Amino acid sequence: MTGTVTTPLLAKIKQHIADHGPMTIAQYMNLCLSDPKHGYYMTQQPFGTKGDFTTAPEISQLFGELIGAWLLHQWISQDLKDPIQLVEIGPGRGTLMKDILRVISLRPQMLAQTQIHLVETSPSLRKVQKKQLKAYEIKWHDNLQNIPKGPTLLVANELFDALPIHQYQLTDTGWRERCVGLNDDQELAIGIGSGTLSPVDVAKANLQAKLGDTLEVSPASNAIASSIAQRIKENGGAALVIDYGYSKTATGDSFQAMKSHEYVSVLEHCGEADLTAHVNFQALANAAKAEGAHAHGPIGQGDFLLALGLLERAGQLGAGKSTLDQDQIRKDVERLAAPDKMGTLFKVLCLTASAIQPIPFNS
Ligand SMILES: C[S@@+](CC[C@H](N)C(=O)[O-])C[C@H]1O[C@@H](n2cnc3c(N)ncnc32)[C@H](O)[C@@H]1O
Repeated sequence: MTGTVTTPLLAKIKQHIADHGPMTIAQYMNLCLSDPKHGYYMTQQPFGTKGDFTTAPEISQLFGELIGAWLLHQWISQDLKDPIQLVEIGPGRGTLMKDILRVISLRPQMLAQTQIHLVETSPSLRKVQKKQLKAYEIKWHDNLQNIPKGPTLLVANELFDALPIHQYQLTDTGWRERCVGLNDDQELAIGIGSGTLSPVDVAKANLQAKLGDTLEVSPASNAIASSIAQRIKENGGAALVIDYGYSKTATGDSFQAMKSHEYVSVLEHCGEADLTAHVNFQALANAAKAEGAHAHGPIGQGDFLLALGLLERAGQLGAGKSTLDQDQIRKDVERLAAPDKMGTLFKVLCLTASAIQPIPFNS
């Protein structure tokens, strides 16, 4: 694979490799997404039809409204006490939080008790969020550390797929880390580096792997899952992690790039394409359990939304609208919940402090 599109970040990455040798996939992903000057989330407007991809809240307000209803149910069923810390990590354009707050506003008592926090690393997306959520008092953070104590209701939608992964390949000398280096033509190329996977990680993965298989691990994701779990354990409340990925650790290369709604090579368009990898929900649940939190699921996004009343709310939303609008609502429902669209690949994991059985994870 060669990097053919010249971008400002490509020159910086090539120079880094020339000076320091090949970089891990995690380093490469981190630079492409979060380089302060040229990183994808720092410079691009990635969402929507004009962007590179669309997320569930950008498809339909139904998604955020049902999440809002679930959070409201947690407030009531867990009898959460004032002040409630409502937190979203990786809020994108702020659309999900806006839809959640519209539902929470139906219970003015809950809204009055709620402090709203957005954890966002991109200054340009913070500006978009500020505009979208100007009706509310909101605090922005770089991480969870400085959010005040209090029962916490936390959501992270499509955050974890954007966090850096390391890739290891099983070779005849054991698991070796895959790295980004330069080929003979001085173009970017992926090869096998000298790094190895720790025997602890191999044992934890408990895999039947064969020669050539790839294993992905994301210490950055596990660290965020740990801090979410710590927070929920100490303060009570609940967290929902929604993303695409696999329920149990498995081998496979899921590192991918998207530009203008098309898959492109991960080495092209450095800093100008979205880079993601599938989320390992088992690893996130294990990291949370290690902090003493309880993990529920993951269950498919389709099952989650349908159990919360997706069809009923869609019917309500479409009532009295034109046939064109009703058709669009039907298409949105299908996209969010059908097994061959986002219904199965996308999953929902719930974290709680105690062994309660939150709906619909209890069925
Ligand atoms: C794929 S977007 C998802 C946006 C939104 N949740 C949605 O569903 O439309 C990823 C978001 O996570 C943010 N992000 C990436 N890394 C982050 C980190 N380490 N901490 C907080 N936010 C992060 C990005 O800037 C962006 O807002």
